[in-house]
Amino acid sequence: MKRAFGTGGPDVVSIGQGTWNIEHADRKTAIAALQRGLDRGLSHIDTAEMYGSGASEEIIGEAIAGRRDEVFLVSKVLPHNASRNGTHAACERILQRLRTDRLDCYLLHWRGSYDLEDTFGAFEELKREGKILSWGVSNFDVDDLQEALAVAGEGKIACNQVLYHLRERAIEHAVIPWCERHGIAITAYSPFGQDDFPAPGSAHDKLLSGIAKTYGATPRQVALAFLTRRPSVFAIPKAANPAHAEENAGALELALSERDIALIGDAFPLGPKPRSLPML
Ligand SMILES: NC(=O)c1ccc[n+]([C@@H]2O[C@H](COP(=O)([O-])OP(=O)(O)OC[C@H]3O[C@@H](n4cnc5c(N)ncnc54)[C@H](OP(=O)(O)O)[C@@H]3O)[C@@H](O)[C@H]2O)c1
Repeated sequence: MKRAFGTGGPDVVSIGQGTWNIEHADRKTAIAALQRGLDRGLSHIDTAEMYGSGASEEIIGEAIAGRRDEVFLVSKVLPHNASRNGTHAACERILQRLRTDRLDCYLLHWRGSYDLEDTFGAFEELKREGKILSWGVSNFDVDDLQEALAVAGEGKIACNQVLYHLRERAIEHAVIPWCERHGIAITAYSPFGQDDFPAPGSAHDKLLSGIAKTYGATPRQVALAFLTRRPSVFAIPKAANPAHAEENAGALELALSERDIALIGDAFPLGPKPRSLPML
């Protein structure tokens, strides 16, 4: 299922592929997983210069060789590199490792000590040079977003990538509504809570399995469909195993009923609004 990646943004699949720690898997298998994901439509691929100090980007570069145009490719600059010149230099290194001439979206990984004016200024220059097609932020709470908007102006920030899974729904309190009001896409990272997905046989698993059965789906597919139930939200599960990538792609066309969304919401309650934005 494709939807606009922020107001005026390109249509992007609701579910993509994360790649943090993918370099720890067997290289051939990891590449096969990314390619299987691409074959099945998971064309949004997320990485960062931080991941394996560039190793993740190199694996992606190999996986997408000859298929660059199929991919919506996202990478991130580390906060300590996000000066005006540093943001440019990091982008050059990223493009080289990914073996491409452009990123579809370039993110500030989290807020650091450089002024947003510097980082965003570099993002805009890179956009004019055609090296990135859009840019955004990650791990920004509403106060950071307000500051970012004041610096950048409306219509410039493509997305905010934030932690979101069944047991961590804090962004529903304020971040999602704020981003929706300003046409900013939300990318849900760690949609399976890394390794915090309900264990087989647990009460949560029984609920998800019961719902999944009615759609001929799996519990993880149901979780991904739940997280992407709002058209503003995209999810990027990481799978270094081709069968996992295949399963995740099976969630692309899954739309849950209002009743099932309510059942899942009750089983994994939103909870009170935390003082600060949860992040990994
Ligand atoms: N912006 C940020 O600060 C930030 C922070 C964290 C993550 N991220 C991004 O978000 C992506 C996803 O988050 P994540 O990697 O932290 O965790 P995740 O996607 O929630 O979970 C990854 C784990 O789930 C397993 N898995 C995936 N699909 C599965 C399936 N169908 N069946 C069984 N197991 C499955 C993976 O196993 P296998 O690998 O063995 O397949 C891996 O162990 C990252 O890779 C990264 O791109 C961004």
